[in-house]
Parts: sequence; structure tokens; C-alpha cells
Amino acid sequence: MTDNYLEKFEKMRKAGNLASKTLDMISAHIKPGITTNEIDKLGYEFIRDNGGYSAPLYYRGFKKSLCTSLNHVVCHGIPSERILNDGDILNIDVTAIVENYYGDTSRMFCVGKAPIKATNLIEATYQSMMNAIKILKPGIKLGDIGFEIQSYVEKKGYSVVRDFCGHGISNVFHESPNILHYGKKNTGIELTPGMTFTIEPMINAGKFETKVLNDGWTAVTKDKSLSAQFEHTLGITENGYEIFTESVNGLHKPPYN
Ligand code: MF3
Ligand code: CO
Ligand code: CO
Repeated sequence: MTDNYLEKFEKMRKAGNLASKTLDMISAHIKPGITTNEIDKLGYEFIRDNGGYSAPLYYRGFKKSLCTSLNHVVCHGIPSERILNDGDILNIDVTAIVENYYGDTSRMFCVGKAPIKATNLIEATYQSMMNAIKILKPGIKLGDIGFEIQSYVEKKGYSVVRDFCGHGISNVFHESPNILHYGKKNTGIELTPGMTFTIEPMINAGKFETKVLNDGWTAVTKDKSLSAQFEHTLGITENGYEIFTESVNGLHKPPYN
């Protein structure tokens, strides 16, 4: 089975690489005093200047180029005049379109020195995503992905957000299948070579319930507990996987000390 997915993978690589380079560039600017609008502008210009488009801009009425989700914001935070303060944690989620294909990736950043309870949550969220990625190969099932994430974080007393999930992605931003970040082993559809999708667990320090604010986008934890998220875009190969949004500078997981 050597389908034509190699051409698709080549484009996914380009888009994923631009998204991840955008986050690498942004990471140098994460300091107390910068506004999330300034981060948005940095992302917009970098993607434009490197031959891509920001997928979130005008997506379903979204008016910014990336998402900035601070502290108890679970996802889809809207850049604003909010200034980053020492001790804040935030997720920045970038999606670049290159030659019609999408690369979608997000990371956590700490502003100055974040409290240990925040860095512990971030570490566990990152590790849960990587645990799920490491098992990827043809023949495993979608439920196996959710199981890896859920079992790892619940052991630490955290919870997995149910209201948002990962998604198929290629020359469409969000397509089937949904990738749930919780689940049971050996359930759901089987992975096959050529599939491309995101894994993007949102993990809460408290309960899993979320609510969306009146702006129609910003999702927050109902109990106001901290939330963390990482996201990679990946493809299934003949005997494993390829991460399209790996940081060439090794910056996907920030150092915390
Ligand atoms: N990047 C998000 C995801 O991981 C989607 C953001 S849609 C937006 O799927 F409109 F909020 F930007
Ligand atoms: Co996504
Ligand atoms: Co995303």
C-alpha cells in the first residue's frame, strides 16, 4: 500500500514546519509586558512573510490570526490588549496554510516564573500528548490514543476536557475523524497509513467542565482551575508516524528552570 499520500505528506510537512517555526519565533517574545495582540501581529506577519496564511483569521468569524489562551482559558482565547504578567501561563495555537495544506500546533509558555502547580500541569499535559504519539502506527484504534492520555493525567489528579477534541486535517482545517483525548483501549476506528490528524489534549488541574464566554469563542474551565494544552499535527506511515509540527530548534517543550 504505497498510495499517493507521500505528496500529501510533503505539503503537510511544509505547513507544519511554518506553524512550528512561527511558535519558535514567538517564544523569544514571551515576556512580562507584551500584549496578546502584539503576539498576534508577530504571528500574522511571520506567516505572511514566509509564504503562508493564518488559518484562524476570518475562520467562522474569528478576527485574529492565532489563539492565546491564558491560565484558566482552555482554548480559543482571543488576542487582546491584555498584557502578560509574571507567573501567567499561556497556550499559543498557530495554524498555517501553505499551498492549501494546514499545519496546526500549539505549545504552553510560562511568563517569567510560573508556580510549580502550573509547571507540573504543563509537564503532564506535554507528556500525555507524547505518550499518545509514541503508540501511533497502523492497526491501533482511536480509543487507544484517548486511553493513553486519560490514564496518564487522571493518575495525577488532573482531568481531560471533553468539549473539544483533535481532528483530521489536510487541505481542510477540521475534518473527520474526531480525535478524543479520553477513551477505552481497542475501541473506535483503526488507524491506516496516510491518515493525517492532530492530537491536542486540553488538561485541567480541576474538573473537566468548560464554558464558552459571551464573545462566542473563549472557552474557560467552569471551576476556574488552570488548564494546559499542547498540539501536534501528525501523519500515519507504513510502520509508525511522522510529526509535521516538530520544532527544528527543540522548542516544543519549554525549559521551566
Ligand atoms: N487551532 C485550533 C485547533 O486546534 C482551532 C482554532 S479556530 C479559531 O483546532 F478560530 F479559534 F482560531
Ligand atoms: Co487543532
Ligand atoms: Co490548533
